[in-house]
Amino acid sequence: MAARRAATLACSLLLLSAALLRRGCRARFAAEPDSEHDEEEPEVFPESPVQRPTVLVAILARNAAHALPHFLGCLERLDYPKSRMAIWAATDHNVDNTTEILREWLKNVQRFYHYVEWRPMDEPESYPDEIGPKHWPGSRFAHVMKLRQAALRTAREKWSDYILFIDVDNFLTNPQTLSLMIAENRTIVAPMLESRGLYSNFWCGITPQGFYKRTPDYLQIREWKRMGCFPVPMVHSTFLIDLRKEASDKLVFYPPHQDYTWTFDDIIVFAFSSRQAGIQMYICNREHYGYLPIPLKPHQTLQEEIENLIHVQIEAMIDGPPMEPSQFVSVVPKYPDKMGFDEIFMINLKRRKDRRDRMLRTLYEQEIEVKIVEAVDGKALNTSQLKALNIEMLPGYRDPYSSRPLTRGEIGCFLSHYSVWKEVIDRELEKTLVIEDDVRFEHQFKKKLMKLMDDIDRAQLDWELM
Ligand SMILES: *[C@@H]1O[C@H](CO)[C@@H](O)[C@H](O)[C@H]1NC(C)=O
Ligand SMILES: *[C@@H]1O[C@H](CO)[C@@H](O)[C@H](O)[C@H]1NC(C)=O
Ligand SMILES: *[C@@H]1O[C@H](CO)[C@@H](O)[C@H](O)[C@H]1NC(C)=O
Repeated sequence: MAARRAATLACSLLLLSAALLRRGCRARFAAEPDSEHDEEEPEVFPESPVQRPTVLVAILARNAAHALPHFLGCLERLDYPKSRMAIWAATDHNVDNTTEILREWLKNVQRFYHYVEWRPMDEPESYPDEIGPKHWPGSRFAHVMKLRQAALRTAREKWSDYILFIDVDNFLTNPQTLSLMIAENRTIVAPMLESRGLYSNFWCGITPQGFYKRTPDYLQIREWKRMGCFPVPMVHSTFLIDLRKEASDKLVFYPPHQDYTWTFDDIIVFAFSSRQAGIQMYICNREHYGYLPIPLKPHQTLQEEIENLIHVQIEAMIDGPPMEPSQFVSVVPKYPDKMGFDEIFMINLKRRKDRRDRMLRTLYEQEIEVKIVEAVDGKALNTSQLKALNIEMLPGYRDPYSSRPLTRGEIGCFLSHYSVWKEVIDRELEKTLVIEDDVRFEHQFKKKLMKLMDDIDRAQLDWELM
């Protein structure tokens, strides 16, 4: 009797704890209340998915204060577990705030990443033999190669599965880029990046001396006439190396291979090394992955680089949402102005918020201040309203381009400009600029326009409308 009670007690205790663990247990026991030898199958747990491969991201930054906030923003948005990523960051020879920005970022984000290695070098600010911050003397190539080698060594020592090299002015706007590149299962693979013009981060041909050779294949790939992942003799700027592949052990940045006779340039040294190791480089253009700027000439300035970068950012906004800067660094505020005009009007239809947002952002990036004018919605105008406004089409008017009368939209557009003209007169404005909300800006738009206005002043042109 006592034994039986004990057994019941044990059972009800079991019931309790099992019920806590797993719903439905009580019901099963309840169906067989007298069963003392309940032989419930032990639960078999399914296998959990494997963790993602580990990736070390190598960041080499120099005079990149203008690019870093957006670069780091793109890096943070990569859809990849940060606990499986490590950051290796080095900086040197800066005249700007690069070191402070990177330090601030690393301090704020290091808790998210597997680990962080930080190699700042405060002095000197430049190489002794360089003519400017955009010049690459031999000493600079050597230094960069040594840094890349150090990053590679760290990745190997830490048994990282992959190392991702990425220049700090390359913006991976597609958050899937890293996962997509890993999925390609190549030893060295690069996502094709876009720029103003035909520049990109790969070569399709290489001369016997190791220099760039333009081939017909290049355009086919660059312009997405052929899509896929293609073997090429050179990828640079942003590329992923699979360190689990045996041949990757032979890759070196520094010192260059003993048979190396080509020019002393880190990307060419590395392409040669990959050839010696029997590793094929691949470029992928299956999707759009991101952007990079056209490199500057040795004599160009940091200011020109900043303008270059701004153009990359506003071009990226044509096809995608604005590139947001990292929230883990302080971003230097911009100071929009009117470029010497009394007013800059931007005409925008209230219902086209998308265009308004893009224009405002694009103008802000260029530090241009505008006043929004709500456009007249031509499509919402009816005949009696047009009559009331005293608008009549010239008899027999035909648009010279398309041989048709004006559309409602065009009438609305005219009325919008007309309201601007009235404001110009009311406010006695001397010099104004009017833009619509679907403008695609030229590289250095602000600088070019201000130079133009300057030239016009100097030539003392008597102008009314340009
Ligand atoms: C330099 O960067 C630090 C950290 O991001 C920031 O606090 C500081 O205001 C920056 N200075 C300048 C001149 O941009
Ligand atoms: C990846 O490539 C290796 C050869 O380097 C091959 O053995 C392996 O099966 C490939 N993995 C996948 C998932 O295709
Ligand atoms: C035209 O639109 C106005 C304002 O919406 C409205 O009051 C008027 O009745 C409309 N006239 C016609 C002919 O539809």
